[in-house]
Amino acid sequence: MANAERYAIILAAGKGSRMKSRRDDVSKVSFPLLGVPLMAYVMDALDACSLEHLIAVLGFGGATSSKVAEGRAEIVWQKEQKGSGHAVMMAAPILEGKEGETIICCGDTPLLRAETLQNLFEFHEKNGNDLTVLTFIAENPKGYGRIVRKSGLVEGIIEQKDLVGEQHDIKEVNAGVYIFDNKVLFDSLKLLKTDNAAGEYYLTDVIGIFASKGLKVDGYVAEDPVEMSGINDRVQLAAAAKAMQKRINERLMLSGVTIEDPDTAYIGPYVQIGADTIIKPNTTILGRTAIGSENVIGPNSYLENVTMGDEGFVLSSHVVDSTLGQKVQVGPYARIRGNAVIRDDAHIGNFMELKNVDFGSGSKAMHLSYLGDATVGEGTNIGCGTIVANYDGVNKFHSEIGSRAFVGSGSTLISPVKVDDEAFVAAGSTITSDVEKGAMAIARGRQVNKPGYAAKLREKALKTKIESK
Ligand code: UD1
Ligand code: MG
Repeated sequence: MANAERYAIILAAGKGSRMKSRRDDVSKVSFPLLGVPLMAYVMDALDACSLEHLIAVLGFGGATSSKVAEGRAEIVWQKEQKGSGHAVMMAAPILEGKEGETIICCGDTPLLRAETLQNLFEFHEKNGNDLTVLTFIAENPKGYGRIVRKSGLVEGIIEQKDLVGEQHDIKEVNAGVYIFDNKVLFDSLKLLKTDNAAGEYYLTDVIGIFASKGLKVDGYVAEDPVEMSGINDRVQLAAAAKAMQKRINERLMLSGVTIEDPDTAYIGPYVQIGADTIIKPNTTILGRTAIGSENVIGPNSYLENVTMGDEGFVLSSHVVDSTLGQKVQVGPYARIRGNAVIRDDAHIGNFMELKNVDFGSGSKAMHLSYLGDATVGEGTNIGCGTIVANYDGVNKFHSEIGSRAFVGSGSTLISPVKVDDEAFVAAGSTITSDVEKGAMAIARGRQVNKPGYAAKLREKALKTKIESK
């Protein structure tokens, strides 16, 4: 059945009660793994399959699931969870009667690879199957539906609760991924009954229905059982994260990234990193982060949704939703957030916080400052302990610092204010009005020295000293 239309259904309405969450509005499939919801991995794998329709069956915790599925899948609702077969019936208004092939996956199998699904389609089409089940050989098959074969082909799937006698010994199990002839699938769903141990409409009973109609049903045995793991509890969630971490880190290392300690580098699936960048221990990089080449990231750094050029470093720092240019140096102990842009050759030093700042090329802010809602030009120096006070308790205001300016240590700029190019702000100033180009501003009490007064002060203090008991 080459070039048939392809459709997909993701089953994700189940409760996920083994996650033991106190929240009843959070679905299992929206739990994050390396920062990405479980079901998003499944959608990513399916995206490579040239689908006409991608349908997600949602139910429990639907608000969180629909956030994951929105814009990527057509959502149908299963209000009551009456079994996996019943869940597929919810897609009938979209798919019933259509010519083509339908792949069904579960939303909780993040390790499933796109290549495996493509191989499954290829196997299905090359052999002219009417139904193909993805299977694997399980050392411990307990809990899985068992594959019953006859003369090589599949005759049915028996669920754990319904096993009898020697069926317990069958090691080939159902991975929960299938490709069906779409028309026959929806015709067969109408024949499902709930006369089983769970009292549910089992999707797996459709396999027997196909076989009894004399249609060709085969199993495609996957090589790597780990890939098939479904997440049912938080132990499995952590194990899947470990497997995904290994997969991602190995891909990056083979593409030229040095990861000094792959066990403590947590890098999300969408992160891009250029060759010869070094990832040092205890570093987390998530979201839509794209890092160039020859950088050093870490140790002890957190980056999320960051774009970064080449040949810079981020040392023991936290950078979120921001852009770093070429040869930018950050840290140790900096926090950069809120769409900050740090332009080429700029240096952000120790104990700095920058929020929504456009920080110009070659400018430096090396110590202990807060810059919020500001623009800083090129080649400017921001002295130690500078504060751009952007918030009056109600509103936030923007300040502007020009190019080649100098802001002396311990200064406070009360926003909104402009310090123009080449201006000089004397240390310890509190700037409340604009400083014009090339001017020096000094805004602090004038110093008074009182000769010999230090000794007098000390004498006075000693006289009134309170003895400690
Ligand atoms: C299922 C298969 C089993 C297979 C195993 C692989 C059935 C009957 N059994 O068992 O053969 O070995 O997966 O992991 O399908 N769901 C709904 N609505 C429902 C019930 C389930 O959307 O009313 C969804 C769940 O969210 C889940 C999927 O269907 O994504 C499978 O259901 P689950 O209860 O996990 O079945 P298993 O016992 O794991
Ligand atoms: Mg399951």
